[in-house]
Amino acid sequence: MSGPIGMFDSGFGGLTVARAMIDLLPSEDLVYIGDTGRYPYGSKPLDDVRGFATEITRSLVDDYGAKAIVVACNTATAAGLDEVRAAIDVPVIDVITPGVKALVATTTTGRVGVIGTVGTVSSGAYPHAIAETGVPVSLTSAACPGFVEFVERGKTTGDEVTVLAERLLAPLVAADVDALLLGCTHYPFLARTIGEVMGHGVTLVSSADETAFAVRRRLGEAGLLREDDRQGAHRFASSGDIDVFRELGGRLLGPELDHTEPWPSTSG
Ligand code: DGL
Repeated sequence: MSGPIGMFDSGFGGLTVARAMIDLLPSEDLVYIGDTGRYPYGSKPLDDVRGFATEITRSLVDDYGAKAIVVACNTATAAGLDEVRAAIDVPVIDVITPGVKALVATTTTGRVGVIGTVGTVSSGAYPHAIAETGVPVSLTSAACPGFVEFVERGKTTGDEVTVLAERLLAPLVAADVDALLLGCTHYPFLARTIGEVMGHGVTLVSSADETAFAVRRRLGEAGLLREDDRQGAHRFASSGDIDVFRELGGRLLGPELDHTEPWPSTSG
């Protein structure tokens, strides 16, 4: 029961999942590592991303005593969920399975879309996860290179974002999807623009809330859920510039992110 929930992403994207987890599980302690020193993951070979993911996961367990891991990154999930699970001995929750569950529950026409990084889309992880649900839907996927970079620069709206979104989302608009899964944890920060480009009839689905519910369920099953009335502690670490992470991360997540420590930790 004691020990924080460890989570990570290439940068700020996993904060969308952290927000949902803090809100749903306020008494849990949380440690978040943003690998901003090595971001973006989406354009890197999946082998490299798999190495980063297992390294960070081990650190969350060994250095921070994490009782469970949330892979708050679709690209890392697509690249190496099995390896992450094999590397440690605590429950691991990913973002792809919960996101897909929410997507197939949302569509009424059966025409669904998924957008993600080049790495995620090329891995085939989403068609695979959708097939596993057994729900017959027609899937249109598109990679959205450039979206993550906008978020990491703190640019979430404006003409440049809209122009890129119009170009990248055109195949989804043409496919007339009625539900679009934001298959990268950075993308909910661009939801306003993505929603405007897709139009009113399209429901945007984020994996964040569904993942938080999956975490609660999994911790409950494992007897690891905190149910007392305490206020959890939240730690944030970054492999990049910790001042930038604190400043921009605080803007994106909210007041809980008021301090950032370096990762790997200098004190061990
Ligand atoms: N947020 C990550 C994801 O969900 C990827 C970001 C990146 O390309 O670094 O896929």
